[in-house]
Amino acid sequence: MATQQPAVRPANPRFSSGPCAKPPTFDVTKLADAALGRSHRAAIGKDKLKAAIEGTREILGIPADYRIGIVPASDTGAVEMALWSLLGARKVEMLAWESFGAGWVTDVVKQLKIDAEVKTADYGDIVDLATVDTKNNDVVFTWNGTTSGVRVPNADWITDDRVGLTICDATSAAFAMDLPWDKLDVTTFSWQKVLGGEAAHGVIVLSPRAVERLESYTPAWPLPKIFRLTKGGKLIEGIFTGATINTPSMLAVEDYLFALDWARSVGGLKGLIARADANAKAVFDFCDGNDWITNLAEDETTRSNTSVCLKFSDDRIQDGAAFAKAVAKRLEAENIALDIGAYRDAPAGLRIWCGGTVETSDLQAMLPWLTWAFEAEITAQA
Ligand SMILES: Cc1ncc(COP(=O)(O)O)c(C=O)c1O
Repeated sequence: MATQQPAVRPANPRFSSGPCAKPPTFDVTKLADAALGRSHRAAIGKDKLKAAIEGTREILGIPADYRIGIVPASDTGAVEMALWSLLGARKVEMLAWESFGAGWVTDVVKQLKIDAEVKTADYGDIVDLATVDTKNNDVVFTWNGTTSGVRVPNADWITDDRVGLTICDATSAAFAMDLPWDKLDVTTFSWQKVLGGEAAHGVIVLSPRAVERLESYTPAWPLPKIFRLTKGGKLIEGIFTGATINTPSMLAVEDYLFALDWARSVGGLKGLIARADANAKAVFDFCDGNDWITNLAEDETTRSNTSVCLKFSDDRIQDGAAFAKAVAKRLEAENIALDIGAYRDAPAGLRIWCGGTVETSDLQAMLPWLTWAFEAEITAQA
């Protein structure tokens, strides 16, 4: 017999790691001011794009001399635009400890055919950052590995006197973790992640040194228009003031502006980090109190406060992958937790999004149900 179902249900069962839960105050009527059916190059469209750029700068504390561009194809577009535009000038080190970082390795080694030094770690672990030569090499890494729940503990391993560039995929970190801008030359993220925005566009943040590289180096390979950040050896400044490369969704822009407003209402970046930390703590405490479930991230200092990945650690489990899927399915069927199965390339388990748009009270209501689903499944497989 399975245990009794808990009495309390989460008000919002959305714990997906992307697209993530909308801000708690969201409803579609909040997007009524969208500049729909208008040219994105008309003043109204350009002003909204500019507000999205400057709102990003304000909330994330991005220095005034860094460029912020809204680009096509979400975070993937922003990362690949950086790889294709900047790499090839110096030796490259690629760091990967989960699926997305591994994807960037494939891009660089197999597609761009760069003879990069590749450093990888298994899911749950992280590469030895002390071995990375950030002084001389271009280094590509993911701040928070969304599919393993492992993040870099800090940026102390990045030297201030570097000649190479740091290229950082920060899509599940931006708006939930402190990003030290002086250590990051290229930073990317997408709207669909921590602020619960709509998918479509990516954001690329460039340090002055990244701009210098763009203006002084031309890659050996051709660049499609969608990746081009320079023209005639000069940065296309318009991209960084709201004149996007191609047509953006003004509905997605409005939604992002709403999300930025909500971010302000919870205290900006500090408030967002505090919300994510409180959410992650609820899950960490749950793991500490139950010996059948464990954080996939082995070292506490690398534990994500957004994409918290868990594995089952109970000897009675016969087929780990089937078990984890069945638990997630039970929770989904009860409308308690949606989309919490581990990523398809990751070890069997669960992934619970803890970014700031999730309410801690919803996590606290959901976790007893996880115990219920676990026990029900143990009973079912017996
Ligand atoms: C670390 C990381 N990089 C890249 C991506 C791809 O993002 P998008 O689908 O927004 O391009 C994701 C999506 O989950 C991610 O988590």
